[in-house]
Amino acid sequence: MRREKTNGKATEKPFVIAVDGPAAAGKGTLARMLAKKLGYRHLDSGKLYRSVAQNAEQVWKLKIPQQTQQIAKEIEENLRITDEYLEQIYRDEELREEKVAISASRIAPQKIVREALAKQQVAYIYSSAQGIVLDGRDMGTVICPEAPCKIFLTASPEVRAKRRYKEMLEQEIPDQEIPDQEIPDQEIPDQEIPDQDALNQETLDQNKLASYDATLRDMRARDARDLSRTQAPLRKADDAMKIDSSNYTIDQMLSEALDYANSRGATAHVQHTQEPSIMTDDTLKIDSSYHTVPLAFSKALDYAK
Ligand code: C5P
Repeated sequence: MRREKTNGKATEKPFVIAVDGPAAAGKGTLARMLAKKLGYRHLDSGKLYRSVAQNAEQVWKLKIPQQTQQIAKEIEENLRITDEYLEQIYRDEELREEKVAISASRIAPQKIVREALAKQQVAYIYSSAQGIVLDGRDMGTVICPEAPCKIFLTASPEVRAKRRYKEMLEQEIPDQEIPDQEIPDQEIPDQEIPDQDALNQETLDQNKLASYDATLRDMRARDARDLSRTQAPLRKADDAMKIDSSNYTIDQMLSEALDYANSRGATAHVQHTQEPSIMTDDTLKIDSSYHTVPLAFSKALDYAK
């Protein structure tokens, strides 16, 4: 595999797929599956916010949100997004906990923190020519507005609340039978990380015993907060394709997203392990690992001219 870089930047730009949407719409599942199918990198920005919140409280010993300035400074000085760092935070079970999500949602509206994290995210996105799937709430609007493929994944509040309720029952009361009559048949995305945006601990404790109605009420309230916050509010980019996953299975959701990504020019990333067997000194070498087919074709055509 050959990576050509100038000043640490890849010479070819990666193909970027931005997946945004509200909590429990299935973004995490879709982004992971798209990345796997296409051989792309995956940036889960929710995990970044969680990791920063956890570091702020446990390592930097700073208060959220009172010590926002210092938190932003720590991010600038100490946080670098690399493949290794991402692998580590994706594996970190503690980051999945609700109390971390709550801290993350308290740091997330802070402008200087968002700006410091935005710089890091953009640097990571363009550090390699390998395609990438971004997963979050402001990926297609703020972090990568130039992304050629944007998907806004949503589902009705009722369906999302049912998914969340089922997840909560599974997490909190593993052996409990989930009452089928309360949860209409619905494909549940596995491993979707609950977004307890701005839920406080008290509400959370109540939710352990939650009824579906309470979960729905919280979901609607979180939607309202996400949509109305000043910094990077949740909204569909004008050029994003909206997918409503309410009545979709995971396979249907993936298939629609893949069709759309392909129609926007996404091609699977293939790692070539063998060099061409014969290459003379005056042969132009095109490494198609980092090119879409049209780009490789256009390079060949330019050279032929
Ligand atoms: O997606 P996840 O639940 O892991 O996100 C944790 C928190 O980080 C969310 O509650 C949300 O407020 C915040 N977040 C954000 N912008 C992103 C991703 C997450 O504000 N791009």
